[in-house]
Amino acid sequence: MSMGYSVAVVGATGVVGEELLAILQERQFPISELRLLASARSAGLEVEYQGKILQVQEARPEAFDGVQIAFFSAGGSVSQALASTAVERGAVVIDNTSFFRLDPEVPLVIPEVNADDLGSHKGIIANPNCSTIIIDLVLAPLHHAAGLKRVVLSTYQAVSGAGIKAIHELEDQVKDYAAGKEVTAKVLPVSSAPKHYPIAFNLIPQIDLFEDAGYTKEEWKMIRETQKLLHLPELRITATTVRVPVLRCHSIAANIELEQKLSAAKVQEILSQAAGVSVLDDPSQQLYPMPIELSGCDDVFVGRIREDNSSATGINLWVVGDQIRKGAALNAVQIAEELHRRGLVKI
Ligand SMILES: NC(=O)c1ccc[n+]([C@@H]2O[C@H](COP(=O)([O-])OP(=O)(O)OC[C@H]3O[C@@H](n4cnc5c(N)ncnc54)[C@H](OP(=O)(O)O)[C@@H]3O)[C@@H](O)[C@H]2O)c1
Repeated sequence: MSMGYSVAVVGATGVVGEELLAILQERQFPISELRLLASARSAGLEVEYQGKILQVQEARPEAFDGVQIAFFSAGGSVSQALASTAVERGAVVIDNTSFFRLDPEVPLVIPEVNADDLGSHKGIIANPNCSTIIIDLVLAPLHHAAGLKRVVLSTYQAVSGAGIKAIHELEDQVKDYAAGKEVTAKVLPVSSAPKHYPIAFNLIPQIDLFEDAGYTKEEWKMIRETQKLLHLPELRITATTVRVPVLRCHSIAANIELEQKLSAAKVQEILSQAAGVSVLDDPSQQLYPMPIELSGCDDVFVGRIREDNSSATGINLWVVGDQIRKGAALNAVQIAEELHRRGLVKI
């Protein structure tokens, strides 16, 4: 660590926090000082960063003194409690939680899609929901080419989207099932919900808590965040979000009705040129994106591109993205890189 920014990672011991640290190193983000913050439970824990041992500290207001960039991924309540404090002490906050995403004063950014929104930041920038990032990387270029008329999304979301405890829950349930033991569930679909269901050999059509009109919070996030970041407040978009027994990578089946017809070949061409998107689509070779092959990748992958047999301007496609990387940590680091490039961090 030499020339660069003073950076804090809040939630450094979590799934997203660990990936953030890996990506900051991989991409050689300029860091002069790194503070690893978490709850009091993890204070004192040692973590290696670029060959140096760093101690995790409790995330308290004083921990942000002198920090220029603070990545938050410790849940909405921690962002609510500490993000503004970090800004008051001089930091730009890049927040991975949903707490600020729909605040009209807070830009919600996917750098490949709406980097110019960063210019209006007032200290906090929100990283969109993981499934939203994955699908919006595909929706944005299609909108520019032919206009979005209506979007119907069905997600197949990995357990790691619900944090470390949910990963352990799936692994433990699989082991217990194979050993002929009783399978117990305490985490999914939502730790705070009254009922829990096994995820091993199951699907759970509930991600996060239920909100109005019978939709879950995750479904409303995909709808409202897409409308905000694509600058299409009237976009007709709906979603059904489902937890599946996959460790990592969210998958999304999308039915997209366009204003103007595009052939499947044209959609393939547009998406193969889109930043952050790779096309993996050859039915003759049984080639299509799958979570097991794409964990750890930066791009989102699109396949099964075909014209909707029931609509003159509709397209069906299948998207898979590593939600811990592009859906969270990578997008956050790319936001920091963009702020650095545009001179939008206080020196
Ligand atoms: N997982 C994903 O795919 C994903 C994707 C996009 C966004 N997100 C969002 O990112 C956030 C973190 O998710 P995650 O999956 O990384 O969760 P996680 O694995 O459960 O990690 C949670 C992190 O938050 C810390 N933390 C918890 N309570 C805290 C407190 N009171 N003060 C300070 N730190 C505290 C934990 O520290 P301790 O070790 O001390 O408990 C841990 O470092 C959530 O808001 C989530 O919605 C997650």
